[in-house]
Amino acid sequence: MVLAMGAETSPAAGAPPREIVLRTEGLTKRFGKRVAVNGLSLEVQRGDVFGLLGPNGSGKTTTLRMVLGLIWPNAGQISAFGLAMSDGGNRRDALRRIGAVVEQPAFYPYLSGRENLLGIATFAGLPNSAASRARVDEVLMSVGLASRARDSYKKYSLGMKQRLGIAAALLTKPDLIVLDEPTNGLDPAGVVEVRSLIGSLAQQGITVLLSSHLLYEVQQVCTRVAILKEGTLLAQGTVSALLAAQSGLQLAFAQQEQLAQAVEVLRVAAAEYPWLQGAQYVQPEPGAWVPPGGWALLVNVPIERAPEVNALLAARGIYAAELRRREASLEQFFLAVTAAPPPAPPVGAPVAAIQGGQL
Ligand SMILES: Nc1ncnc2c1ncn2[C@@H]1O[C@H](COP(=O)(O)OP(=O)(O)O)[C@@H](O)[C@H]1O
Ligand SMILES: [Mg+2]
Repeated sequence: MVLAMGAETSPAAGAPPREIVLRTEGLTKRFGKRVAVNGLSLEVQRGDVFGLLGPNGSGKTTTLRMVLGLIWPNAGQISAFGLAMSDGGNRRDALRRIGAVVEQPAFYPYLSGRENLLGIATFAGLPNSAASRARVDEVLMSVGLASRARDSYKKYSLGMKQRLGIAAALLTKPDLIVLDEPTNGLDPAGVVEVRSLIGSLAQQGITVLLSSHLLYEVQQVCTRVAILKEGTLLAQGTVSALLAAQSGLQLAFAQQEQLAQAVEVLRVAAAEYPWLQGAQYVQPEPGAWVPPGGWALLVNVPIERAPEVNALLAARGIYAAELRRREASLEQFFLAVTAAPPPAPPVGAPVAAIQGGQL
């Protein structure tokens, strides 16, 4: 199987490159013999809602804890706002610009949300002033808790508790906010609340780095993602580019040799038709017809091009037995990049020739 990765959408010509808010290079953390994070290089740009994705145990929390200076890497570098975090002074300066909800925040159940935040503001070094109290009210407002600010914490729903945690992280006006599994354990309403809050943080110009094992959730809110498996980075890019590479027109043929013939026809046609950008062998998605040999061809074109693709092939006597739209979700993408290697593609087929999104 070939995984053609879509190219990252390049910034519009003339647009200044975006500031790198956070960069890790070769970040590695071992616990005894276990490698929790393995040579991880990430780049979070200003304005991103960046999702660190992977199943439980893949190293997400460990990565975020290293970023926040809570644990020390065994190897690799972290820089935030261009400052190397290995330097103590830099680290303090950078961490002042980062808010986080990583460990379960401890709130007093019998105090109100507002009283809890006032306490945290004091602890965070904000002066006991009218301005600090105004800031508390401001963050309560921005997480949508203003009307419930005087209710005791124990009366809050899980979604409200999570939003209060985010409010606490916002007190110091961070440029970057780090959230570990922000929707984990929430009911569907809570998930929607927190998701829309994350979207509104991004609109306020706060860069968000979050982790999640819930890929569907992430697809709804993240602009860029990195996919981790067992501490190793499998893919990184914009959600749209990762999905585009896995979406398009899926063709299946009744005769196995037609698969390679179809690739050849499309390769030749690509010289003439710029919209023919890439193709790859894929295993049919669940529910699709499984052709002999088990492989289908995914052509990375919009579904509107189906008649043209079909006509190109038919003109050469190649008739698809099934032709369907394939729309990838991050879930499918994740399965595709984490799955065990599938059986070999058809013998003699020019697999390498269609690698990297090129026919
Ligand atoms: N403090 C620790 N001591 C030993 N092993 C740890 C510790 N923290 C995490 N691990 C191990 O490191 C791996 C990654 O864990 P973690 O970063 O929590 O993953 P995730 O957040 O993606 O679920 C797991 O195998 C976990 O058991
Ligand atoms: Mg975790």
